[in-house]
Amino acid sequence: MDASERQSLIRSVRQRLESLARAGVDRIALPEIAPPPAREKPSIAAVKVIEMAPAVPIRPVAAPRPVAPPVSSRSLFEEPKIEEPILSPDDRVAALATLAADVSICVRCPQLAESRTQTVFGIGSPTARLMFVGEAPGADEDRLGEPFVGRSGQLLTDMITKGMGLSRAEVYIANVLKSRPPDNRPPMREEIAHCLPYLERQIEIIRPEFLCLLGKSAVTALLETVLPMNRLRGKWHRYRGIPTVVTWHPSYLLRQPSAKKEAWEDLQLLMQAMGLKAPDRQKPAS
Ligand code: URA
Repeated sequence: MDASERQSLIRSVRQRLESLARAGVDRIALPEIAPPPAREKPSIAAVKVIEMAPAVPIRPVAAPRPVAPPVSSRSLFEEPKIEEPILSPDDRVAALATLAADVSICVRCPQLAESRTQTVFGIGSPTARLMFVGEAPGADEDRLGEPFVGRSGQLLTDMITKGMGLSRAEVYIANVLKSRPPDNRPPMREEIAHCLPYLERQIEIIRPEFLCLLGKSAVTALLETVLPMNRLRGKWHRYRGIPTVVTWHPSYLLRQPSAKKEAWEDLQLLMQAMGLKAPDRQKPAS
């Protein structure tokens, strides 16, 4: 850039700044100029423009306006909400049946497709207010084709019925993986990625008011966080706009019964938000 081009650039920057000042703008954000690579000479134009800016008096000609917070289209930490239309109960039944049929022939994870007896899609009401999300089918679920029917399933059923006063049929229960991992090993990242679209679609179709994530795999699949379970439970999160509670997986509670107290606190968070009262405990007949 020669001297006259430089003068012309400085003049037009000065005019622009003066016109902004007349319009009441009393501060501007300089665009970030990436530092040049270490061995390259910095561009003279860039350096000179930055040097010139403070020299230009930018005083408001009118009363200063309140400075609005920076506008960003969406916070980095805010998940986009579900855009799909809410389906009628009949359409939900049909959409879930179509999805279940797709799941039943899925071979995205060849090892799981090879070893499973059948896929385990989900169970419960297509209009459920509350949806539980577990990890993956175990041996009992693989055999029966229904989530949470083994020992940890019995505990989850007790949490739902005796704890929350709901029935299994009133809620919806699904897993991150729809196929049993061999030897009940934890799901692999790739398997979660393969299966996640099915769970996401289940949530879109059912559109529960609340989600309860049971254990780390459900958290890893649906929430963008690296925090451990003990930092996540006991408070509200959001998955695509849906208020979400994280709690211990029932199989962890079977191994660690002292954590049941915390799981109960987590259920109470949900119950309070859902307007549910714990059922009266039946006194044993004397
Ligand atoms: N554990 C899960 O996460 N899901 C089931 O369905 C059963 C056990």
